Amino acid sequence: MNKILIASTVILLASSHAGVAADHPGKSTYDSVCAACHKGGVLNAPKHGQTPKWKKLAREGFNDLVGNALVGVRQMPAKGGKMELTDMQVAWAVHYLVTTSDARFPEPTEEKVKAARADGEKRAAKRAAKK
Ligand code: HEC
Repeated sequence: MNKILIASTVILLASSHAGVAADHPGKSTYDSVCAACHKGGVLNAPKHGQTPKWKKLAREGFNDLVGNALVGVRQMPAKGGKMELTDMQVAWAVHYLVTTSDARFPEPTEEKVKAARADGEKRAAKRAAKK
């Protein structure tokens, strides 16, 4: 009896976890746009699932990662090259990419995304001025 209970609890937990990933608001954007580079590491993009790499990047903070994803940085095109994506969709895709690589990352809000874009633009302007 106990064994059955434990087994069904494990199945329940496993399926609810999978459910969260499948319903993640950034998953479809990741699958359709970002995976093209981040799945296989095209152009040296940090690969999906490379936990140490994403943990290190996540420590740079929300403004840095989301700002760079929105505005572009080096070989990373702004919004992954899909300009019709909203800033919020890109931010959720970053959240999906980082958290499903087993690193922690804060959930985006309208305010945080606005601040991240401003930050990304400021850094891009500085880089451009140096060239
Ligand atoms: C054309 C290939 C390509 C696509 C498509 C792409 N990326 Fe990237 N991405 C890169 C590369 C290359 C880097 C590494 C840039 C560097 O640091 O030189 C990168 C870096 C990043 C970073 C780390 C930025 C930092 O601060 O170091 C994030 C976050 C990111 N991408 C998110 C995304 C998201 C979200 C999408 C989809 C909306 C996406 N990328 C689509 C190539 C791509």
